Order: sequence, then structure tokens, then C-alpha cells
Amino acid sequence: MSTKVDVLLGLQWGDEGKGKIVDVLTPHYDVIARFQGGPNAGHTLEFNEIKHVLHTIPSGIFHPDKVNLVGNGVVIDPIIFKKEIDALEKMGVDIKKSLQISRKAHVILPTHCALDGASEAEKGKKKIGSTLKGIGPTYMDKTGRNGLRIGDLFLADFQERYDSLKSKHLRILSHYDFEYDITEKEKAWFEGVEKIKTLQIIDSEQTVNDFLKSDRKVLAEGAQGSLLDIDFGSYPFVTSSNTVTAGACTGLGVAPTRIGEVIGIFKAYCTRVGSGPFPTELFDETGETLRKEGHEFGATTGRPRRCGWIDLPALKYAIMINGVTQLNMTKADVLSVFDEIKVCTHYTYDGERMDYLPYDLNTDLLKPVYETLPGWKTDLTGLTAESDFPAELSAYIDYLEEKLEVPITVVSVGPNRSQTIQRTAVPA
Ligand code: GDP
Ligand code: IMO
Ligand code: MG
Repeated sequence: MSTKVDVLLGLQWGDEGKGKIVDVLTPHYDVIARFQGGPNAGHTLEFNEIKHVLHTIPSGIFHPDKVNLVGNGVVIDPIIFKKEIDALEKMGVDIKKSLQISRKAHVILPTHCALDGASEAEKGKKKIGSTLKGIGPTYMDKTGRNGLRIGDLFLADFQERYDSLKSKHLRILSHYDFEYDITEKEKAWFEGVEKIKTLQIIDSEQTVNDFLKSDRKVLAEGAQGSLLDIDFGSYPFVTSSNTVTAGACTGLGVAPTRIGEVIGIFKAYCTRVGSGPFPTELFDETGETLRKEGHEFGATTGRPRRCGWIDLPALKYAIMINGVTQLNMTKADVLSVFDEIKVCTHYTYDGERMDYLPYDLNTDLLKPVYETLPGWKTDLTGLTAESDFPAELSAYIDYLEEKLEVPITVVSVGPNRSQTIQRTAVPA
């Protein structure tokens, strides 16, 4: 029996604090692997005096001697990738040693980003609120069997392949009333390609399975969140990949029988960036306070994040789809300002009680129903042990565990690596 792959992923609409928790857990693993998404992700790490946002590179990169692997399910923009690498190399990270990239990962072209922009502009008010990083068009080319992959960068006819895909994109773009200029971008793109060619490019499905055979521990790092999943999220206001546990199988080439622990990360409240339904969204002062206290601004686009109370039916749904075995709660400290904390326990749909996430979230007929719990009104950011938790926080945790039927193993009380409280043993 070989070792299993543990999966860590977001259970809400992204930005749950995945990057921080991966960084904290990395010492317990040998390999950290991204399996989907691309530079639409922004994973923030804070340790010592450093604050750093990663987009495509796994969040284990600051731990020397660990392998950081970008799997086949990820889409890579050479421009952003090179910028990320240059910044890390400046900080002394040995990228050539620690980073491995799948030959089968797809490549984002400058014209993919233009197509993203054109599609969103045409949708007008109905836009997805995409990060405009070319994610949708690149995954469309992947499933449409037109895409370029990292392995193709080494082929003798690579330029021809690039030109051919680019002209296809230009033909499509000519049907839009959309202005774009990719000249500058193209230059940076080819520089990025040259940089990628100097790195470790591997058959990552083989590598991951070899790691498992030799009992090396692998942590798969999700991007986005379950409610942004292409199949199970609030479609069409989703991203274009499978953000759920199953995505780790297809995005790394590991069999479902090889999945071990599934660590689901959630905020003690809820946020969303971009368009789309959000049943517990707050448009009042409380929402403003959450945004202010939680510094809720996008790590990739800087956009203000929409804020609201925690949504238990949505969390239960994400736990079910992902097979979550342990929960990690982040940003409990942000709730310290409130006298009372609300929890959405169920909804009403057109006046009728509804305990689960309905097919159509895009409707005013769906209303959240809340239970109110007492707040703790205590600064949590300096706490180091569960024994110091205020009674109301312990009660909040107990309440959530009972409702969600999964243990909360980690409570995060601040953005820094050190502000993390482990309640029970980390995965063996
Ligand atoms: P990710 O995309 O899931 O990795 O999350 P982001 O990095 O986009 O957003 C999470 C934000 O919350 C970042 O600014 C983190 O530094 C910060 N953060 C993470 N955990 C905590 C926490 O427990 N408390 C507070 N106050 N901030 C946190
Ligand atoms: P991390 O990994 C939050 C959102 C966008 C938009 C929708 C589609 O940092 O949690 P896309 O660029 O994929 O076409 O955008 O998904 N989105 C995210 N929201 N965190 C992310 O990643 C996100 N990645 C995409 O705002 O609503
Ligand atoms: Mg983020």
C-alpha cells in the first residue's frame, strides 16, 4: 500500500486562506502540488516580516527541500509565471531545484486574455466578473482540443502552432466589438516561454505516483473554492475548472483510491469576489465592517470582496461533494468586533423551508434564515493555544462541528504563519 495524497481546498467562493494553511502544513509533507486553476488564484502567505502573494506557484515554495509541483490540470500564463519566479528568485528561492511543471499543463496565450475581456465586455451587466486572466478561453481550448501545452514549447514547430492558434483567436475576436493590443504582451510572453524552458519540465503523473510509491507525502493545493466549481458551483458564475477533490485526481493523475485526508478550509464568515449569487451577502454596515476588519480586497485584482455571514447549507454541500474529513476555520479574529454573530442554518425558497442549496441560486426567491450566537468581543490574534479561547468562540466551534458533522482541526486567528492553532494532530 502506498501513501495517499491529502487534498486541501476552499469550501466557499475562494480566498478562504488556502495559501496560509498550505504554508503552515508544508513541513508535514514532501510535495505540494497545484492541480487546477491558474493565475486567477491569489494565495497570500505571511511569515516573519514577509507578505507574499502566489498565483500559479504552490504555497510550499518558501520551504527549501520540498518539491512544488504544477500539475497537468493547471493553466499557465508565461508572463505571470515569469514575474512570480523572478520575484521568488530575488528572495533567494531556488526555483530550478524546487519547482517542477507538468508537460501536460496548458498554456494561456495573450489572445486568450483578449478573448476573456471580449466575452465579459459583451455580457455587460451579466458578466461573470472574471479576473480576466484568460482562464475560461484556455480551458475552452483544452476541452475543444485546440490548446497548447507546456510540452509543445519544446517542439520544432512550436512557433507554427502558436501562430495557428493565435490566428484562430484573432478570427473569433474580429466578431466582437472589442479593442485590444497584444503587441507588448506578446514580447513578454515569449520571454516567459524561454524562462519556462529552463525549468524542470516533467511527466508529473508519473512523478506523483512514484513519490507515493516511495512513501513520500503529497499535499494537493486547491485554487478558487467549491462554489466556483464548473460543475457544482453557482453556474454560470463560476471558474472553468473542477475545484473539488475530484479535480485533484484529473489534475495530477492520481486515482480516486489514492486520496487520503480532505482538508476543507472555510472562513468564519463568507466572501465572494466577482458577480453571481451570494445568499447571505450583507449590503449594510455589518458587511462594510467585515470588509474593513477582514481586509477583504482581492489578492489578484484588488477588487473589494462582497461579505456576508457564514452559510451552513452551502458549506454542507461543499463538504458532501468533496468528502471533507477535516475542517480548518480561518479569520475567526475578524469576528471579534461583533456583539452577535449570525449563522445561516437554512433558507426559504418562495416562502417554503429549504435545507440544501437549490439548483437555481440566481433568484430573489431564496432567503437565508439565521440563528444568532453571542460574539466573543476578545482580540484573538495573540492566542497560541485552544485553552485560551474565549468561551463564546469555543461554543461557536462546537456549534459548527455539530451542524457540519466534521471536526475543525485548525483555527486560524491572523494572517501570519504563527497565528495558527492546531486543535488535534495533523494528518499522519
Ligand atoms: P486564498 O486564495 O484561499 O489563499 O486566500 P487569500 O490569500 O486570497 O485571502 C485570504 C486573506 O486573508 C489573505 O490576505 C490572508 O493573509 C488573510 N488571512 C488568512 N488567514 C487569516 C486569519 O485567520 N485571520 C486574518 N485576519 N487574516 C487571514
Ligand atoms: P483563489 O485561489 C476568489 C472568481 C472571479 C470570478 C469567477 C471567474 O485565490 O481562492 P475566472 O478568472 O476564473 O474566469 O473568474 O471566479 N475567482 C476567484 N474568486 N478567489 C479566487 O482564487 C478566484 N479565482 C477566480 O472573481 O467571479
Ligand atoms: Mg485568493
